Amino acid sequence: RTKLIIDTDPGVDDAFALTLAALSEDVDLLGVTTVFGNVGLEATTRNARRVLALCQRDDVPVAAGAARPLVHHQPREARTVHGSDGLSGRSGVLPEPVRELERSDAVTLLAELLTSAEEPVTIAPIGPLTNIAALLAAHPHLASKIDRLVIMGGGIARGNTTAAAEFNIWSDPEAAHRVLAGGEVPCVLVPLDLTHRCAVDASWLSALAASGPIGAALHSLIPDYLEHYRRALGFEGIVVHDAVAVAEAIRPGILRTESLPVRVECSFGPARGMTVVDVRRSAQRADTDGANGPFTDVAVDADLDGLREFLLER
Ligand code: BDR
Ligand code: CA
Repeated sequence: RTKLIIDTDPGVDDAFALTLAALSEDVDLLGVTTVFGNVGLEATTRNARRVLALCQRDDVPVAAGAARPLVHHQPREARTVHGSDGLSGRSGVLPEPVRELERSDAVTLLAELLTSAEEPVTIAPIGPLTNIAALLAAHPHLASKIDRLVIMGGGIARGNTTAAAEFNIWSDPEAAHRVLAGGEVPCVLVPLDLTHRCAVDASWLSALAASGPIGAALHSLIPDYLEHYRRALGFEGIVVHDAVAVAEAIRPGILRTESLPVRVECSFGPARGMTVVDVRRSAQRADTDGANGPFTDVAVDADLDGLREFLLER
C-alpha cells in the first residue's frame, strides 16, 4: 500500500488527482495540504475539502499552507484556465466540507504525519512547491521519511504560463530550486510534455460522467477548463496534468522516467521559472564532479491508452 500525502492548489485537474487518490483502495491517503496557485489559498483549501467530502473521505486531515511564494511575490492566478473559483465557477456542485480544517498549518501537518509514519511516505506536490521547500528547510531530518516526491511541474521543450515556464514552477521558482537542487529526497518530475500527451478526449469525459455520481460531479467541474483547451490547443478534451503525476505516485512505474539533470531558472529574464532539463547524453556522462547537481527522474513516456484506462477505472 502506498502511504501518500498530496500537496495541492485545486484547480480542475487537482480535483481529478485528489479523487484518484481518495478512491484508490490500495492507497493510504494520510493527509492533504494546500497552497496558493490556480486561485488564492482560501479557495484552493475550500476546494480540496469539498473534493474530499465528495469522496466521503472525512478521515483525511487537510491543512492550509503558503498563501504566497517563498521569496518574490508576483501574483498571477490561473482563473482564465480553471475559472473564477478554481473549478469553472462550479465548486457549489460539490458538497460542503465535513471535516474541520486543521488548526495547524501545512508544514506542521506534514511534519507530524512524517514523524509518525512507520514507513516512508510518498508526497505528490501538484501545485507550487512552496510548502515542500518550507518543510525541507524547517525539518531537514524528516527528508529521510519521504520515499519520493512525485511532482507535477516543469517542461522539457515548452512552457504554458510563459514560453519557457510551466505554471507550478513559474509560481515559485525559488521553492522549486530549493526542492530539486537540495538533493535530500528522490524526485520524479512529471512535465508538461508528457501530461499533454496523456490528454483525455470527449469520449473519455463522457465515460467519466456516466460512471456514477462522483464521475458526474467531476465532469460538471470542467466547462471553463475545457474551453481553455479548446482555445489553446483546438482540442475537445482536457489535460489532467496532476492526475498523471498522482497515477505515478500510487502506481510506481506507470510512467517511464529518465534520470536527468534538471535546473530551475530563477533570474527575472524571459526564462524565469523554466526547468532546464539536460537531455544530452554527453552531459550525463560528464557529470562526474556533481556539477550538474542531483539528477531528477523525469517522466518521459507512458502507455498512454493504458494510463487513461487506469484513471477512468479508478
Ligand atoms: C499545472 O498548473 C496548474 O494550473 C495545474 O493544476 C497543474 O498543476 C499545469 O501546468
Ligand atoms: Ca495543480
